[in-house]
Amino acid sequence: MNILFIGDVVGSPGRAAVKALLPKVRQAHDVDFVIVNAENSAGGSGITPRTARDLFQSGCDVLTSGDHVWRRPEVVDLLNSNPAILRPANFPAATPGRGSGVYRSAAGPSVGVVCLLGRVFVDAMVASPFHSAQEEIGALKKETPIVIVDIHAEATSEKVAMGWFLDGEVTAVLGTHTHIPTADERILPKGTAYITDVGMTGPYDSVIGRSKDKIIERFLTGMPTRFELGKKDVALCGVVVEVDGTSGRALSIHRIREPLPEAVEDAQDPDG
Ligand SMILES: [Fe+2]
Ligand SMILES: [Fe+2]
Repeated sequence: MNILFIGDVVGSPGRAAVKALLPKVRQAHDVDFVIVNAENSAGGSGITPRTARDLFQSGCDVLTSGDHVWRRPEVVDLLNSNPAILRPANFPAATPGRGSGVYRSAAGPSVGVVCLLGRVFVDAMVASPFHSAQEEIGALKKETPIVIVDIHAEATSEKVAMGWFLDGEVTAVLGTHTHIPTADERILPKGTAYITDVGMTGPYDSVIGRSKDKIIERFLTGMPTRFELGKKDVALCGVVVEVDGTSGRALSIHRIREPLPEAVEDAQDPDG
């Protein structure tokens, strides 16, 4: 089976890219299951009922998240009501929602998904993603051999270490959060697909999704500026992982970058 994992969807440009391009990508790569990191889907930060609905209607099966998950308070009800929306598993147990789940796929085999948040330069207060990974994966593998891990983290070292730590234990360890695709996708020796960052789905004429002028101004002055989303050079970025459905081993991983032909401007979108 083939699993498509799409990186951080940024605001309405990112959602438009998923809507317009997912059918083509699905067909081109014979995709059976779609996971998308949605933490930036509402105006570049957070998830709302509308942005989640957009992504599910576009054909996404599971939404993962990260450090921006609480940015929109509506997400609490979403997490409590929809098991296909995940917050990081290494948040305190009392926080709403869940950090992993097992889901039916179009191809037949069920797919386990785990969302983890890094600690280095992101959130030193959360529990160790390494220890959480062990706990979550142990539970999921009682139900399915196919487990996909979203490691949402800043430091390449933490992500690479997670890949080696979980090699042979899961199908794939796929990095998100930095919004820039890395060129290190590979199958590790024990059969786990790995990439440090799949890249964002959003406007690349930007600084990681935000208007470049505002960010440069911030760096020049050190003063707070009101960030806006970029609008141009929108692309859908992610990876397709080919999986042996019986063993759960990854057979191949390759990056995709699909440009959205037209510029996106949706000033009417209340959720950005
Ligand atoms: Fe993030
Ligand atoms: Fe992000």
